[in-house]
Parts: sequence; C-alpha cells; structure tokens
Amino acid sequence: MSVTFDVNFAPSAALNGETAIALKLADGPAPAAASAVDPAGVYAKAAEVARFKAKSMGVLDIIAPQGSPVDRLLVVGLGKGADLTAHDWLRAGGIAASRLGKATSAAIFLDAPGLTVTGEQAADFALGLHLRGYAFDAYKTKKKDEDDKPAEKTVKVTIVTTAASAATAAYTAAKAVAEGVCLARDLVNEPANVLGPVEFAARARALESLGVEVEILTEKEMGELGMGALLGVSQGSVRPPRLAIMRWNGGKNEKPLAFIGKGVVFDTGGISIKPAAGMEEMKGDMGGAAAVTGLMHVLAARKAKANVIGIIGLVENMPDGNAQRPGDIVTSMSGQTIEVINTDAEGRLVLCDALWYCKERFKPEFMVNLATLTGAIMVALGSVHAGLFSNDDALSARLTEAGLATDEKLWRMPLGKDYDKMIDSKFADMKNTGGRYAGSITAAHFLKRFVGDTPWAHLDIAGTAMSSPSNEINQSWASGFGVRLLDQLVRTNYES
Ligand code: BES
Ligand code: MN
Ligand code: ZN
Repeated sequence: MSVTFDVNFAPSAALNGETAIALKLADGPAPAAASAVDPAGVYAKAAEVARFKAKSMGVLDIIAPQGSPVDRLLVVGLGKGADLTAHDWLRAGGIAASRLGKATSAAIFLDAPGLTVTGEQAADFALGLHLRGYAFDAYKTKKKDEDDKPAEKTVKVTIVTTAASAATAAYTAAKAVAEGVCLARDLVNEPANVLGPVEFAARARALESLGVEVEILTEKEMGELGMGALLGVSQGSVRPPRLAIMRWNGGKNEKPLAFIGKGVVFDTGGISIKPAAGMEEMKGDMGGAAAVTGLMHVLAARKAKANVIGIIGLVENMPDGNAQRPGDIVTSMSGQTIEVINTDAEGRLVLCDALWYCKERFKPEFMVNLATLTGAIMVALGSVHAGLFSNDDALSARLTEAGLATDEKLWRMPLGKDYDKMIDSKFADMKNTGGRYAGSITAAHFLKRFVGDTPWAHLDIAGTAMSSPSNEINQSWASGFGVRLLDQLVRTNYES
C-alpha cells in the first residue's frame, strides 16, 4: 500500500511521537537528538554493541527504554560529510520511510552536530519520503496478513530543522515533484488493457485542473495533418491513436521549451512480432510519454516560470489483418517517406511525426524527446545511464548536469554521417532500421532527420524507465525516470 506522509517543518517538536529519527555523519559526533529522546543514554551503548559506524544509509534501530519520550529511535548514517551529495538527502528520506514500520507519527531531527541543513535539503529529504512511500498494488485484492503489511495510511511527520521556514517554502516544489514522479510511475505500471491511447489521453486532459492547456488530436485530425508514420503503427490496433498536446504558460514571451514522449501503450512488435517471453514488459513502452506527463504535472503544480510544451504520441502496436507490413512505405508529416523494414521499430515512427509537428507549430527553444526506444541501449548502458543523443553541445551539457544532480544519469552517445547513411533505403527516403549494429545510434539518426535546425536531444530510456533494480527511493517496477531530471533542467536553466 502506498503510504502518505503528512509533512511539516518546525524548529522543534513536542515528543509524543512513536518514532524519532536522527542523522549522523560518520565523521561527526553523536546526534544531539539522541540525548533529547534518550534520557537513559541508550544510544551510546547501542551504537557500540551494533558497531554502528554511520556509513552512508546505514541504520541503527533502537527500541527506546521506559522513560523515553518516544518508543523508538532510528539513527540514519550519512557517511563522511565531504562525500554527501544532493541526492543523498532523497536517499536518506527513502531510508527513513522504509524504517517507519507501523508508526503513525514521527519526529525527524535533520540537524546533526557538524551538519547544518538547508531548506532545500530538508525538502529533498521529504521528497525521498514520498517517493519511497509509493506502491502500485491497487489490483491486489487479497491483503497480506495484518502483521506484515500496513494498511493504507497516513504518517504524520515533523521534520525538525533550524531551516524550517526555508524548508516549508521549498517543500511546495518538492511535493509537486513527488506527485509528478508518482503519476509517471502509475502510468507505466498500469496494464495496457486499462490504459489504452484514449485512456492515457484522458489522464493528460486531467492536468487541466492545474491550469495546463490540453488539446487532444484524433485519428482523423492526424490524418488531415499527414501523420502517415504514426498512423501506420496504430492501424493494426482496434484502439484509435491520440496525440496529446499539453501547454504550461508560466513564462513571459520567451519561446517554449518542448518535451516529446513515445507513448506506445503496448508494443507487441506488430507483424514483426516479439517473442512471448517477457513481452508483458511492453506495457511500459509509454515510459517517455509518462515522463512528459509527469513533468507537466510538476511544472504546473509548482507554477514554474517557464513556457513549456509537452507532446505525447499515443498508439498501440498490434499484429492484425489490417496491420502494416514489413516493406510498406509510409509518408510522414514532413513529406519524407519511410520504408518499414521492421514493424517492431515503431517508436521512431510515432516520434518522427510528433517531433515534426512540434517544430512546425511551436518553433520551440529546444526539443527533448524521451522514449523506451531500443533494446540496444540496455546492452550498452544497462539501467545505470539513459542514452543521450543530441545535435547541440550546450543542451547536452545542461542535460548531463541535471542528470548528475538528480541521479537520473545520462551518457552521451555519438552521432555522425557514417551512422546516418545506415538508414538510407533502396525504395524510400529512409528505412526504419539500420540493422543489428549501432541500433540505438541509427534510431537516433532516424529521429534527427525530423528536427531540422532545432536544438534537440533524444533520451533513450528503455533501460531506466522500468524494471531497474529497486533502490532507496523506488521499490516499484516503474521508476518515473525523467521527471526529476527534466524538472531540474527547467528549474536551473530556464526560469527567471
Ligand atoms: N519498445 C522497444 C524497445 C524496448 C526493448 C524497450 C526492451 C524496453 C525494453 C522498441 O520498440 C523495439 O522493439 N526496438 C527494437 C528495434 C529493432 C527492431 C530495430 C529493438 O530494440 O529490438
Ligand atoms: Mn518495438
Ligand atoms: Zn517500442
């Protein structure tokens, strides 16, 4: 069950909570909070017996003795002060959330001796709590034994810090980020029978309540625009495609920033059908669209001072009597023709029309697209980095920087004309695959043919959007990858 945290920040807390949490640096003295909640001095003994060294994210769990104002004291290690990163605050929050057990209230003492916490760091800690509290189990009707599973619940958390007022201010944005990431996770986790293109578009439409302008294009409208590449993918499905355009106008007159997402609600491969083993994971082939939707939620919820467009191409890739065939030639909105060699290389066909449409209609400052585009990126980078492909060094550097700050890491991959010519076709302007070698790069080159001179970056998130190892801030199959990254990109570079 998801756990909701009702968070407030205060310079001190009345201790009648069930649980207290304190932090400790490996190279710092015992937490001051320990003496406050621990009149009997149990901490020192417990730390010695457990050989607690306050290694990064190590936890000492002490049941408080009679006479203590709390039932339990958890001490979370932060490692050496010099090694502490911005992302460690999220991780520490995640660790705290994971150790609260059945507590319904907690006091968390962030200021440790030798450590003055900023409002930003305290808000990040709270973000870590929320992200760790996420679970996707709405379809489990049989609840486990009361003892090993908490019921859906709210935990009241007081985060004690001298930076309480700065933290309260920063928390508005942190809360927005938590919601956006959890929205993206929900969309990716949701099975495809529940979340088709129309249903996904309705989830985008729901952002109107936050002040996002939303337009949804139908199949007929996309036909009139000439989006033959996107429509070719969807023609084997009984479920009609949608293109959702979300606009957040929080800036002045500057050109909009544009984010474009691949939203294949299920990818069977089409006529070039995928093997059965593991095919269920292809319900997550809309991770790019989910990240864009989650990002738009964040920007609107925190009233970002920027003009931002989110465009998501929503289709289902199915084999059918009416499905497109290998060898078919489709005409994209740009007028360029494409020979479909492999119907399983469908993401690029969806994105090429969405990118062209975005560029022509909005003339954006830049375009960043996100897509679970290739299995090959997982071969290259695993689930540690997403692949970054770009025609613009400045944009690329900013993205890489945002990746390091949020721990949603990117690794830049090469582009070049020798790769580009691998997708030239005998029969059309290009083909949709360039063969086995350099598969992620040729996929990127395909997209690049639809962006013109617009600064552009493509993030291949096939290895990071889902099925990555769980960690301090995520235990769910879907990670919500990209939401925090792109929020950071916008926040640090494009807001006045
Ligand atoms: N959606 C897949 C890529 C993918 C694979 C995402 C595994 C997440 C996990 C994409 O549409 C695809 O099928 N790509 C093919 C391209 C090939 C046919 C050129 C691939 O990677 O095998
Ligand atoms: Mn595919
Ligand atoms: Zn796909």
